Amino acid sequence: MKLSFKTMDDVDLKGKRVLIRVDMNCSIDPETKKIIDDSRIRAIIPTLEELKDSRVTLMAHQGRPGSDDFISLEPHTEILRQLGINAIFVDDIFGDKAKAAIQRVSIGEVLVLQNVRYFEGEMKKASPEIVAQEPLVQELYPLFDLFINDAFGAAHRSQPSIVGFTVVLPSVAGRLVEREIRVLTEATATEKHPWTLVLGGSKVADKVKTLSRLLKANRIDHALLGGLVGTLFLIAKGIIPEDYSRPIKGFDEAVATAKGLLEDYPDVIVLPVDAAVEVDAKRVECSFTEMGGAPLFDIGPATIEKYREIIIGSEVVFANGPMGLFEREPFSIGTREVLNAIASCDGITVVGGGHLGAMVQHMSLVDKITHISTGGGATVNFITSKKLDLIAALEAAASRM
Ligand code: 3PG
Repeated sequence: MKLSFKTMDDVDLKGKRVLIRVDMNCSIDPETKKIIDDSRIRAIIPTLEELKDSRVTLMAHQGRPGSDDFISLEPHTEILRQLGINAIFVDDIFGDKAKAAIQRVSIGEVLVLQNVRYFEGEMKKASPEIVAQEPLVQELYPLFDLFINDAFGAAHRSQPSIVGFTVVLPSVAGRLVEREIRVLTEATATEKHPWTLVLGGSKVADKVKTLSRLLKANRIDHALLGGLVGTLFLIAKGIIPEDYSRPIKGFDEAVATAKGLLEDYPDVIVLPVDAAVEVDAKRVECSFTEMGGAPLFDIGPATIEKYREIIIGSEVVFANGPMGLFEREPFSIGTREVLNAIASCDGITVVGGGHLGAMVQHMSLVDKITHISTGGGATVNFITSKKLDLIAALEAAASRM
């Protein structure tokens, strides 16, 4: 397959000062703040191993400002070391301390900069040319010969560290981005139907926008909803009371979109038909009318059965986001059973995102799924008709190189 952007095969890496952007955004235990799953860190090791003759500075994010998992990249650096990478950490992004450390990086060393989202301007989303004006890009790019983007998980974010450097430095894809694009392109090159999207988890505002694009592009036949995304649509349809919207960020805007989508695509959107709520710290399965205000933490058994039938009969299944509060064992049943159904499906199956990817590993289902993608939102965005921002930026960079 011919790629539309340049890769590490197209550049000389020896002795070069390389800036690499990766996605090692991991699941973090909200209480201990420890990394629960390091699969995204493991996924970038092949790229880093190929850079043993270069002077490497690594940039990445963890969480979002204000979220529970918005922490320093020091523990990630420690895991990189345990995985055999000669990594050192600097608690700075583009200040004097970072610049001095970047100048000192020797061949074979990987300097990890602090969480790039500690810099407020990183959250800006605009065209590559505009975000390239941010001080993060302007202060750092003169210190490098080459930019490698291997942050597949954040490929749908037109933010300074993802697309800005591609405007001012020769830029290529890392091995992970290359592999994800190859595998996902092959997996989706099928005319077969039905296509089923299983969409759960949080980040509701983002997911509703992606779902809307997918529906408008007539890309999917079934959208099975769970997690907070499911909760939003249940409220939008008037099945459960609005009190359940409390954990949903950006509810007001998202619920308006959800109502419109329910009207326009009533046969494609499939909602849970029963619930699992928490009563006295226990899982209680019930109908929506019996919830009595108890926290809704998972899909119920009738929903599992309904979703299972649709998944098994599908030719293509994409899944992103858990069906419930999977971190707590009793409420992980919905997510587990949906993954079991995906593993039993004979069609093409792609599971994306840190949470589901980690569960697939724990459940030993890896061999039964076509592709475990490191991308969550990025992977679902891949199947909309819109090109991923990271790829568009690398293509433009290739035409300049
Ligand atoms: C992800 O986990 O999907 C990526 O790391 C992107 O994170 P974001 O949704 O906070 O931009």
